[in-house]
Amino acid sequence: MTPNDAKRPLQLNDQGQLRHFLSLDGLSRELLTEILDTADSFLEVGTRAVKKVPLLRGKTVCNVFFENSTRTRTTFEMAAQRLSADVITLNVSTSSTSKGETLFDTLRNLEAMAADMFVIRHADSGAAHFIAEHVCPDVAVINGGDGRHAHPTQGMLDMLTIRRHKGGFENLSVAIVGDILHSRVARSDMLALRTLGCPDIRVIGPKTLLPTGLEQYGVRVFHDLAEGLRDVDVVIMLRLQRERMQGGLLPSQGEFYRLYGLSTARLALARPDAIVMHPGPINRGVEIESAVADGAQSVILNQVTYGIAVRMAVLSMAMSGQTAQRQLTSESASEEEI
Ligand code: CP
Repeated sequence: MTPNDAKRPLQLNDQGQLRHFLSLDGLSRELLTEILDTADSFLEVGTRAVKKVPLLRGKTVCNVFFENSTRTRTTFEMAAQRLSADVITLNVSTSSTSKGETLFDTLRNLEAMAADMFVIRHADSGAAHFIAEHVCPDVAVINGGDGRHAHPTQGMLDMLTIRRHKGGFENLSVAIVGDILHSRVARSDMLALRTLGCPDIRVIGPKTLLPTGLEQYGVRVFHDLAEGLRDVDVVIMLRLQRERMQGGLLPSQGEFYRLYGLSTARLALARPDAIVMHPGPINRGVEIESAVADGAQSVILNQVTYGIAVRMAVLSMAMSGQTAQRQLTSESASEEEI
């Protein structure tokens, strides 16, 4: 470890560029805006007959998903392919991890195959950070969702969706509704909205599904859905994350829908041009009515499309941050030799 390593946040290089992407915590408005601008420029690639640019040609991106995923895994694969990288997706259920190999040993083996980037999803909060601390210095680590901690690329694709549909963040009211307690998406969204200057962030849910310490995110808390939705510009619905729930946090799914489900009538309390978002997978009739999920105000499928562009931006920026760091390190080593 160099003296600079000790001072620098893990996910940035000495010049403040991205080299891993683990969390939105501590990233500046300028860096988040650069990710959004870069993603915006990549959206056009998805409309071409040949959907490829050569930015990561010769690089190998390894998707290592220890938790189920449809959107994140496939859009990271597509993003890496559109950047011309070689892509390997490790199926953890058929890998040697299921024969008792530790996460660490699995990753050491992938490192030995000269992978340049790992995209990691893991049920444990902090897993991506742990891996970034321990992989060899040339490998970039991207967090595809860790426990209830962070889902930074989802956070950024949500921000791209809001910026493209609402033009910016300065005058917006955004409501995040449902199971905030278990949601890494909610944490990443709250951090991103705050950093990007959104003045009114509301979280709405029952007391049992709201974490303590929400004040650090600068949000307003509502327990009544109708009150919280009034005149908002953006509604972000969340799934009930039963796989992370312990004990009886809810009387029943039906009762949750009665109190917190987004119906057409409830959506009418928001501004007439409000957009409805959801990270997926959606549970129809649990947190959202089908007519709303499929309705004119829903941008849920646009989020998926924007997710490819955001992941292209993050992969390419982290790779160039790693390359720049390698050059800086080798230049300072040569100076020391002189
Ligand atoms: N939004 C999201 O993370 O979806 P997946 O679990 O399908 O990746």
